[in-house]
Amino acid sequence: MGEENLLPNRQIILKNYFQGCPKETDFELRTTNVSTEIPHGSKGVLLKNLYLACDPYSCHLMRPQGQSRLFTHSFIVPGSVVNGHGVAKVIKSGDEELKEGDYVWGITGWEDFSMPGLAAYVGWNEICCPKKGETVYVSSGAGGVGHLVGQFAKMMGCYVVGSASTNQKVNLLKTELGFDDAFNYKEGDLRSKLNKFYNLKEPQGIHNLFSLIEKRLSLRGFVVADYKHMYPEYAEWAIKKLQEKKLVYVEDVITGLENVVSAFVGIYHGHNIGKRIVVVAED
Ligand SMILES: NC(=O)c1ccc[n+]([C@@H]2O[C@H](COP(=O)([O-])OP(=O)(O)OC[C@H]3O[C@@H](n4cnc5c(N)ncnc54)[C@H](OP(=O)(O)O)[C@@H]3O)[C@@H](O)[C@H]2O)c1
Repeated sequence: MGEENLLPNRQIILKNYFQGCPKETDFELRTTNVSTEIPHGSKGVLLKNLYLACDPYSCHLMRPQGQSRLFTHSFIVPGSVVNGHGVAKVIKSGDEELKEGDYVWGITGWEDFSMPGLAAYVGWNEICCPKKGETVYVSSGAGGVGHLVGQFAKMMGCYVVGSASTNQKVNLLKTELGFDDAFNYKEGDLRSKLNKFYNLKEPQGIHNLFSLIEKRLSLRGFVVADYKHMYPEYAEWAIKKLQEKKLVYVEDVITGLENVVSAFVGIYHGHNIGKRIVVVAED
């Protein structure tokens, strides 16, 4: 194969499994070459990555077998390219359903070549089953999921309180995103702040299972991957709301593949406002 058929490809490699929060030293940047040739008869596709998402769940993909509470095995092992959700452009295609210039989204590698919102939509509509007039508290209210959930709750007619780690984020919730109230959970006493909104003499935590019955509580976990079938419904609804300017989507944009690791590590320290994405290439 001639060198004219090769493109340099920067890749983010997982160096070692990490414990707790990921660190920048757990990753390394490697440059290899990728062939631009699609073998004859193959349905292979060469993609140029444009946008990569930083998602908190990704750390569970990079834990040793048996050490993740979400997955039973490691999806990304040391020495391999890190992956996650992204948007890419088709450069070459052997698949008749995809042509050069098409844009695609899905799981892609953190490399040059190779969507939040559904979690908020499913969590709010399918799991919470909200009622108009209820008080809703959104922790991490200025995060990728939280800033959308708060707005969904407002559209439903709920009283919405959010919390975040900085006054800049709190301000965003109250001014741009229409939360009824918001507070900085790092300042003062969290319990008394929550009491202000719920008007409780004593915090009503779940002390034992009988409390679920007595207080008519529902407690339910979910994994958004189980609700992929709802994506078209969510996309149609959200795009209409965005066009009508009834929904604000906050993106925290970092530029350059070389910055994807620090961008990812930063979400575990509250450095993002809204959904953090990395722009690898504009087109
Ligand atoms: N069940 C599912 O299927 C599903 C799907 C998507 C997301 N999620 C979960 O939903 C949560 C939000 O996801 P996201 O994508 O919207 O993330 P995100 O909010 O965009 O990013 C993480 C945020 O969490 C807060 N944070 C970071 N470190 C923290 C710490 N040590 N203690 C407390 N808060 C910390 C920070 O906000 P502050 O600076 O305001 O503290 C940070 O901005 C995550 O826990 C994620 O795993 C679950």
